[in-house]
Amino acid sequence: MNVLPNLVVMISGSGSNLQAILDATAGGRLPAEVVLVVSNRQAAYGLVRAERAGVPTLYFPLKPYTAADRSREEYDADLAGHIAPYRPDLVVLAGWMHVLSPAFLNQFPNRVINLHPALPGAFPGTQAIERAFAAYRRGEISHGGCMVHYAIPEVDAGPVVAQAVVPVEPDDTLESFAARLHAAEHRLIVEAIGLALDRQEQ
Ligand code: GAR
Repeated sequence: MNVLPNLVVMISGSGSNLQAILDATAGGRLPAEVVLVVSNRQAAYGLVRAERAGVPTLYFPLKPYTAADRSREEYDADLAGHIAPYRPDLVVLAGWMHVLSPAFLNQFPNRVINLHPALPGAFPGTQAIERAFAAYRRGEISHGGCMVHYAIPEVDAGPVVAQAVVPVEPDDTLESFAARLHAAEHRLIVEAIGLALDRQEQ
């Protein structure tokens, strides 16, 4: 019997990309299993999606660490310690809104990938879609996009696994552009997980 690769998915919000991953694994399009979903926000709807799919969840907030004057490195090391027993082949940051330090990343070398709603080098950080759309309005860019890259201790940077261009249409509103971009992300994250897992086999 073939054992499926283990995915740990980390989220902070709605979890629509987590849902795309869960749908792809359940439908057999992505031969892998989500073994744990981690959130740093208790209200993240992605936790509900995980529970509905019968996937174990971990809510692990930063606040108790900052309140006790404990460092980000301690938080990151403890977080890695909670995840390690699940033996992830890949840790997928799907809307996880914290930069992870080497205290985390070094525990899973070449195994942490991050989804970002902009092309490599463009609009790192939060509100990337809003900033891309504003740049389009100013005539600075003709398209946006999304990417999945290996995580490094820099915001939304690192070796690219896969990317997709999303054109801005002349009659686009921020909402219609964002909807097309999110749909592209839902395809890209599944494709990128497959690519990253394939590379591990080689
Ligand atoms: C996605 O658009 C993802 O690219 C973005 O958060 C959203 C999460 O949506 N990530 C970043 O901006 C990382 N800098 P979701 O919770 O519905 O999957």
